[in-house]
Amino acid sequence: MSERKGMDHVGVLVFSAAGIYAALAIFMGVIPGTVLSKSPALAGVVPLTEAQARGRAVYVGEGCSYCHTQFVRPLAQDHVWGRASVAGDYTYSTPELLGTERTGPDLSNIGARQPSEVWHSIHLYQPRSLVTGSIMPAYSWLFELKDKADPGDVVVNVPPAYAPPGKVVVASRREQDLVAYLISLKQAPLPSPSPAP
Ligand code: HEC
Repeated sequence: MSERKGMDHVGVLVFSAAGIYAALAIFMGVIPGTVLSKSPALAGVVPLTEAQARGRAVYVGEGCSYCHTQFVRPLAQDHVWGRASVAGDYTYSTPELLGTERTGPDLSNIGARQPSEVWHSIHLYQPRSLVTGSIMPAYSWLFELKDKADPGDVVVNVPPAYAPPGKVVVASRREQDLVAYLISLKQAPLPSPSPAP
Protein backbone atom coordinates (compact mmCIF):
# COMPACT_ATOMS: atom_id res chain seq x y z
CA MET A 1 0.00 0.00 0.00
CA SER A 2 2.72 2.45 1.02
CA GLU A 3 4.68 1.65 -2.19
CA ARG A 4 1.59 2.46 -4.21
CA LYS A 5 1.31 5.81 -2.45
CA GLY A 6 4.93 6.62 -3.36
CA MET A 7 4.15 6.07 -7.05
CA ASP A 8 1.23 8.43 -6.78
CA HIS A 9 3.54 11.17 -5.55
CA VAL A 10 5.82 10.69 -8.54
CA GLY A 11 2.76 10.95 -10.77
CA VAL A 12 1.67 14.18 -9.10
CA LEU A 13 5.16 15.62 -9.50
CA VAL A 14 5.46 14.69 -13.17
CA PHE A 15 1.97 15.89 -14.06
CA SER A 16 2.24 19.18 -12.18
CA ALA A 17 5.64 19.90 -13.74
CA ALA A 18 4.27 19.11 -17.21
CA GLY A 19 1.17 21.20 -16.45
CA ILE A 20 3.18 24.23 -15.32
CA TYR A 21 5.42 23.89 -18.38
CA ALA A 22 2.44 23.71 -20.72
CA ALA A 23 0.73 26.69 -19.03
CA LEU A 24 3.89 28.79 -19.28
CA ALA A 25 4.36 27.82 -22.93
CA ILE A 26 0.78 28.90 -23.68
CA PHE A 27 1.00 32.18 -21.74
CA MET A 28 4.46 33.20 -22.91
CA GLY A 29 4.55 31.74 -26.41
CA VAL A 30 1.24 30.78 -27.92
CA ILE A 31 -1.01 33.63 -26.69
CA PRO A 32 1.43 36.49 -27.48
CA GLY A 33 2.10 34.88 -30.89
CA THR A 34 -1.61 34.69 -31.64
CA VAL A 35 -2.23 38.27 -30.52
CA LEU A 36 0.69 39.46 -32.62
CA SER A 37 -0.40 37.59 -35.73
CA LYS A 38 -3.86 39.21 -35.44
CA SER A 39 -2.56 42.74 -34.85
CA PRO A 40 -3.03 44.92 -37.91
CA ALA A 41 0.06 46.73 -39.24
CA LEU A 42 0.39 50.35 -38.18
CA ALA A 43 -0.33 52.76 -41.02
CA GLY A 44 3.08 53.32 -42.58
CA VAL A 45 4.44 49.83 -41.84
CA VAL A 46 4.97 48.19 -45.22
CA PRO A 47 6.32 44.79 -46.32
CA LEU A 48 10.04 44.66 -47.14
CA THR A 49 11.15 44.95 -50.75
CA GLU A 50 13.05 41.99 -52.21
CA ALA A 51 16.41 43.64 -51.62
CA GLN A 52 15.49 44.57 -48.03
CA ALA A 53 14.27 41.01 -47.36
CA ARG A 54 17.60 39.62 -48.64
CA GLY A 55 19.33 42.15 -46.40
CA ARG A 56 17.34 40.91 -43.43
CA ALA A 57 18.66 37.41 -44.14
CA VAL A 58 22.21 38.83 -44.16
CA TYR A 59 21.47 40.54 -40.82
CA VAL A 60 20.40 37.18 -39.36
CA GLY A 61 23.29 35.29 -40.94
CA GLU A 62 25.95 37.72 -39.74
CA GLY A 63 24.59 37.57 -36.19
CA CYS A 64 23.80 41.26 -35.88
CA SER A 65 21.02 40.45 -33.41
CA TYR A 66 23.51 39.02 -30.94
CA CYS A 67 24.38 42.63 -30.11
CA HIS A 68 21.44 44.65 -31.40
CA THR A 69 17.81 44.65 -30.29
CA GLN A 70 14.83 45.73 -32.35
CA PHE A 71 12.53 46.37 -29.46
CA VAL A 72 12.11 49.67 -27.63
CA ARG A 73 10.76 49.04 -24.14
CA PRO A 74 8.25 51.45 -22.58
CA LEU A 75 10.95 52.72 -20.21
CA ALA A 76 12.45 56.17 -19.88
CA GLN A 77 15.99 54.91 -20.58
CA ASP A 78 14.83 53.44 -23.91
CA HIS A 79 13.37 56.67 -25.32
CA VAL A 80 16.67 57.58 -26.88
CA TRP A 81 16.08 54.74 -29.41
CA GLY A 82 12.56 55.81 -30.38
CA ARG A 83 9.01 55.39 -29.10
CA ALA A 84 7.99 52.19 -27.32
CA SER A 85 7.45 49.33 -29.79
CA VAL A 86 3.90 48.04 -30.40
CA ALA A 87 2.64 44.81 -32.00
CA GLY A 88 1.70 46.62 -35.23
CA ASP A 89 5.41 47.38 -35.83
CA TYR A 90 6.14 43.70 -36.46
CA THR A 91 3.34 42.65 -38.82
CA TYR A 92 5.73 42.05 -41.72
CA SER A 93 8.79 41.02 -39.77
CA THR A 94 8.16 37.53 -38.51
CA PRO A 95 10.02 35.94 -36.94
CA GLU A 96 10.74 39.16 -35.07
CA LEU A 97 14.42 39.97 -34.51
CA LEU A 98 13.86 41.33 -31.01
CA GLY A 99 17.27 40.30 -29.72
CA THR A 100 18.16 39.87 -26.07
CA GLU A 101 21.47 41.69 -25.66
CA ARG A 102 22.00 45.37 -26.29
CA THR A 103 25.77 45.54 -26.64
CA GLY A 104 25.15 48.02 -29.45
CA PRO A 105 22.22 50.43 -29.82
CA ASP A 106 18.63 49.33 -30.53
CA LEU A 107 18.06 49.44 -34.29
CA SER A 108 14.22 49.75 -34.42
CA ASN A 109 14.53 53.28 -35.77
CA ILE A 110 18.05 53.32 -37.23
CA GLY A 111 16.79 54.23 -40.73
CA ALA A 112 15.41 57.49 -39.34
CA ARG A 113 18.40 58.13 -37.08
CA GLN A 114 20.97 57.35 -39.75
CA PRO A 115 19.53 57.44 -43.29
CA SER A 116 22.88 57.62 -45.12
CA GLU A 117 23.92 54.55 -47.14
CA VAL A 118 27.47 55.88 -47.26
CA TRP A 119 27.64 56.11 -43.46
CA HIS A 120 26.35 52.53 -43.05
CA SER A 121 28.81 51.14 -45.60
CA ILE A 122 31.84 52.85 -44.09
CA HIS A 123 30.66 51.81 -40.62
CA LEU A 124 30.23 48.16 -41.67
CA TYR A 125 33.64 48.12 -43.35
CA GLN A 126 35.34 49.57 -40.27
CA PRO A 127 33.20 50.87 -37.35
CA ARG A 128 36.27 52.47 -35.73
CA SER A 129 36.76 54.77 -38.73
CA LEU A 130 33.57 56.59 -37.70
CA VAL A 131 33.06 55.80 -34.01
CA THR A 132 36.24 56.00 -31.97
CA GLY A 133 36.61 53.03 -29.65
CA SER A 134 33.66 51.10 -31.15
CA ILE A 135 33.68 47.42 -30.21
CA MET A 136 31.51 46.39 -33.15
CA PRO A 137 33.29 43.89 -35.43
CA ALA A 138 34.42 45.10 -38.88
CA TYR A 139 32.42 43.24 -41.54
CA SER A 140 35.12 43.63 -44.18
CA TRP A 141 34.12 40.34 -45.88
CA LEU A 142 31.00 42.08 -47.14
CA PHE A 143 33.28 44.13 -49.43
CA GLU A 144 35.60 43.37 -52.29
CA LEU A 145 39.01 45.00 -52.58
CA LYS A 146 39.90 45.86 -56.16
CA ASP A 147 42.82 47.56 -57.86
CA LYS A 148 40.36 49.76 -59.67
CA ALA A 149 36.60 50.03 -59.80
CA ASP A 150 34.67 48.54 -62.73
CA PRO A 151 31.69 50.34 -64.24
CA GLY A 152 28.62 49.88 -62.04
CA ASP A 153 30.64 49.17 -58.88
CA VAL A 154 29.46 50.82 -55.67
CA VAL A 155 32.71 52.27 -54.33
CA VAL A 156 32.89 52.99 -50.58
CA ASN A 157 35.11 55.93 -49.75
CA VAL A 158 36.61 54.71 -46.50
CA PRO A 159 38.55 57.45 -44.61
CA PRO A 160 42.21 57.32 -45.77
CA ALA A 161 43.58 56.16 -42.40
CA TYR A 162 41.45 53.00 -42.63
CA ALA A 163 41.42 52.44 -46.40
CA PRO A 164 43.47 49.52 -47.76
CA PRO A 165 46.56 51.02 -49.45
CA GLY A 166 46.34 51.09 -53.24
CA LYS A 167 42.92 49.40 -53.36
CA VAL A 168 39.33 50.51 -53.78
CA VAL A 169 36.64 49.12 -51.49
CA VAL A 170 33.61 47.88 -53.42
CA ALA A 171 30.30 46.98 -51.73
CA SER A 172 29.05 43.45 -52.47
CA ARG A 173 25.43 42.73 -53.34
CA ARG A 174 24.95 41.29 -49.81
CA GLU A 175 26.31 44.48 -48.26
CA GLN A 176 24.04 46.68 -50.36
CA ASP A 177 21.04 44.52 -49.39
CA LEU A 178 21.99 44.74 -45.71
CA VAL A 179 22.21 48.54 -45.89
CA ALA A 180 18.83 48.68 -47.69
CA TYR A 181 17.39 46.66 -44.82
CA LEU A 182 18.96 48.87 -42.13
CA ILE A 183 17.62 52.01 -43.76
CA SER A 184 14.15 50.43 -43.95
CA LEU A 185 14.07 50.20 -40.15
CA LYS A 186 11.96 53.25 -39.31
CA GLN A 187 9.25 53.48 -36.70
CA ALA A 188 5.89 54.51 -38.16
CA PRO A 189 4.01 57.20 -36.20
CA LEU A 190 1.37 55.87 -33.80
CA PRO A 191 -2.25 56.64 -34.58
CA SER A 192 -3.85 58.94 -32.03
CA PRO A 193 -5.10 58.18 -29.46
CA SER A 194 -2.02 56.00 -29.02
CA PRO A 195 -2.62 52.36 -28.05
CA ALA A 196 -0.98 51.28 -24.80
CA PRO A 197 2.41 49.72 -25.55
C1 HEC B 1 29.80 42.37 -30.83
C2 HEC B 1 28.62 43.18 -30.86
C3 HEC B 1 28.13 43.71 -32.19
C4 HEC B 1 27.78 43.02 -33.31
C5 HEC B 1 27.87 41.51 -33.56
C6 HEC B 1 27.27 43.98 -34.24
N1 HEC B 1 27.29 45.24 -33.69
FE1 HEC B 1 26.57 46.93 -34.53
N2 HEC B 1 27.21 48.01 -32.94
C7 HEC B 1 27.82 47.50 -31.82
C8 HEC B 1 28.21 48.58 -30.94
C9 HEC B 1 28.92 48.43 -29.61
C10 HEC B 1 27.80 49.78 -31.57
C11 HEC B 1 28.00 51.22 -31.06
C12 HEC B 1 29.33 51.78 -31.57
C13 HEC B 1 29.30 52.04 -33.05
O1 HEC B 1 28.43 52.81 -33.53
O2 HEC B 1 30.13 51.46 -33.77
C14 HEC B 1 27.16 49.37 -32.82
C15 HEC B 1 26.59 50.27 -33.71
C16 HEC B 1 25.87 49.91 -34.82
C17 HEC B 1 25.11 50.81 -35.66
C18 HEC B 1 24.94 52.30 -35.42
C19 HEC B 1 23.83 52.50 -34.43
C20 HEC B 1 23.56 53.94 -34.08
O3 HEC B 1 22.58 54.18 -33.38
O4 HEC B 1 24.34 54.82 -34.46
C21 HEC B 1 24.57 50.07 -36.68
C22 HEC B 1 23.70 50.56 -37.81
C23 HEC B 1 25.01 48.71 -36.49
N3 HEC B 1 25.77 48.64 -35.35
C24 HEC B 1 24.69 47.67 -37.32
C25 HEC B 1 25.17 46.37 -37.17
C26 HEC B 1 24.96 45.32 -38.14
C27 HEC B 1 24.19 45.48 -39.42
C28 HEC B 1 25.57 44.20 -37.65
C29 HEC B 1 25.71 42.85 -38.31
C30 HEC B 1 26.33 42.85 -39.64
C31 HEC B 1 26.15 44.55 -36.35
N4 HEC B 1 25.89 45.87 -36.11
C32 HEC B 1 26.80 43.67 -35.52
C33 HEC B 1 28.02 46.16 -31.54
C34 HEC B 1 27.82 45.12 -32.44
